Amino acid sequence: MAVLSSLWAVVITTSSMAQTVSQHQQEKSVQVAESATLDCTYDTSDTNYFLFWYKQQGGQVTLVILQEAYKQYNATENRFSVNFQKAAKSFSLEISDSQLGDAATYFCALRGSHKLQIIFTQDEADALNISSVQ
Ligand SMILES: *[C@@H]1O[C@H](CO)[C@@H](O)[C@H](O)[C@H]1NC(C)=O
Ligand SMILES: *[C@@H]1O[C@H](CO)[C@@H](O)[C@H](O)[C@H]1NC(C)=O
Repeated sequence: MAVLSSLWAVVITTSSMAQTVSQHQQEKSVQVAESATLDCTYDTSDTNYFLFWYKQQGGQVTLVILQEAYKQYNATENRFSVNFQKAAKSFSLEISDSQLGDAATYFCALRGSHKLQIIFTQDEADALNISSVQ
């Protein structure tokens, strides 16, 4: 849990900034091989920014995907892709062909032009539950 604790420390040091990320879904269940979409919205006055999805599983946090805001296409990493709607300030994670190992908690995050400050969603991370096909 050491990695996660340092993420929370980042949240605290940036809480005065007028930037937010939010997730409203809380929990989602899909079966193996189905697709899953996890929603995230954000707000920032920066014109240059980076958006991230992180996965937390068994106390380890790993980067799933990064979207650079100025790019005119949706980032893709194997079975993971984003649906980035810049005007709507929405940044969904789409997982195709779900595997059991995708079951985890997913956080979205925003990094503005101040390079060391990353804003994470706090209490609202999405838990994704994958069940095997009966
Ligand atoms: C991402 O894909 C969605 C759905 O196809 C599309 O509406 C959106 O414009 C795309 N975003 C970018 C930045 O290309
Ligand atoms: C995940 O979903 C399966 C099937 O719906 C359920 O049996 C299991 O309890 C769920 N696990 C969690 C952690 O919610």
